[in-house]
Amino acid sequence: MKIGVLKETAAGERRVAATPESAKKFLALGATISVEAGAGAASWFSDEEFAAAGATICDRSRLLAESDVLLGVQGPDPATLQSVKPGAWIVGILNPFGERARVDKYAALGVEALALEFMPRITRCQSMDVLSSQSNLSGYSAVIEAASQYGRAFPMMMTAAGTITAARVFVMGVGVAGLQAIATARRLGAQVSATDVRSATAEQIMSLGAKPIFVSNVAGIEGEGAGGYASEMSDEYKAAQAELISSHIVKQDIVITTALIPGRPAPRLITDDQIATMRSGNVIVDLAVEQGGNVEGVMAGEVVERHGVRIVGHTNVASRLAADASALYARNLFNFLSAFWDKETGQAVLPDDDEITKAIRLTRSGKVVNERLLPQLATAGT
Ligand code: NAI
Repeated sequence: MKIGVLKETAAGERRVAATPESAKKFLALGATISVEAGAGAASWFSDEEFAAAGATICDRSRLLAESDVLLGVQGPDPATLQSVKPGAWIVGILNPFGERARVDKYAALGVEALALEFMPRITRCQSMDVLSSQSNLSGYSAVIEAASQYGRAFPMMMTAAGTITAARVFVMGVGVAGLQAIATARRLGAQVSATDVRSATAEQIMSLGAKPIFVSNVAGIEGEGAGGYASEMSDEYKAAQAELISSHIVKQDIVITTALIPGRPAPRLITDDQIATMRSGNVIVDLAVEQGGNVEGVMAGEVVERHGVRIVGHTNVASRLAADASALYARNLFNFLSAFWDKETGQAVLPDDDEITKAIRLTRSGKVVNERLLPQLATAGT
């Protein structure tokens, strides 16, 4: 099987889908691996390092003409794939709902598009889960960004000139990114509290040394929907949550929001009126900005100031830690392909009836085949 690694073309994308380490592992499986020249440059993996690992460095047209599998981070623009081999796999974070027209174009090109963000959230897939590996780094990065925007220190410091009190950090949404944000803020010495709609997270928050802030005495507070994800909450819950947040946020210095509901716009958790009650110089980082944002007034790709509070809306946050994000992503990809490796034929084989195949395969033999994208079956977020 000939594996090709694409150079990313999306604006601001610094990651790469393979590293010299993963290239070596693919070679050990019996695959050949080619890397588009310069693919790793923005994440500090040079062509020389890839070549030393045994990869062939080539231009895009040769990569497309020869590869059976093309690995990318973001979905490649179909216009740049014209000479692709029919039946080749395109593997990446393909954003199938956001880039629906692109999926049709992949079908028209005759490629098999595999969307890694559709990987089921089951134990077997943990090591292949790109959402987790990238969200984890985003949660870390959000806290580092908040610390650098904040004109004060995070830890309590007792100095000869007096005492500095610890920053109070509030994390809203305790999935993978939120858990890492809590852990990172704690390591920096902040006093941390956190909230989620899934009551199961209260224990996780406490185990990281943070304080859970939860709505109580409202019907249906479990908040856990299909696949362990959050579900949309009742109006009664939302009103109780808004009241609780209003009284809590006024005492906070830093707020990190990460709340998402699959297939829906991000829930609005902080209003402009609530921001007005915060102290000048405080910082809010909204990791949900690409899904519409948890914070009123957040702007994608910008840092804006409202009532003296900085609201950070960086997009593609994992790409800011491109070397580590690429390394984890590349391992996810290796774990995925090697799990389906057929030693006899020397290639990965995706059985049609495997739940992973069914979940991630978007196109095949000229058609869109994924249930979540077919009009008669698709419902938002299912
Ligand atoms: P996510 O990115 O979809 O959402 C982030 C967090 O926001 C979630 O914890 C969610 O409950 C919370 N949230 C949604 N609406 C909210 C609101 N109105 N107020 C406050 N919080 C709100 O979540 P992520 O990180 O993708 O994790 C989702 C689930 O998947 C978790 O239960 C996690 O443990 C599970 N998971 C399972 C994996 C596996 O078994 N392979 C891998 C990774 C995660």
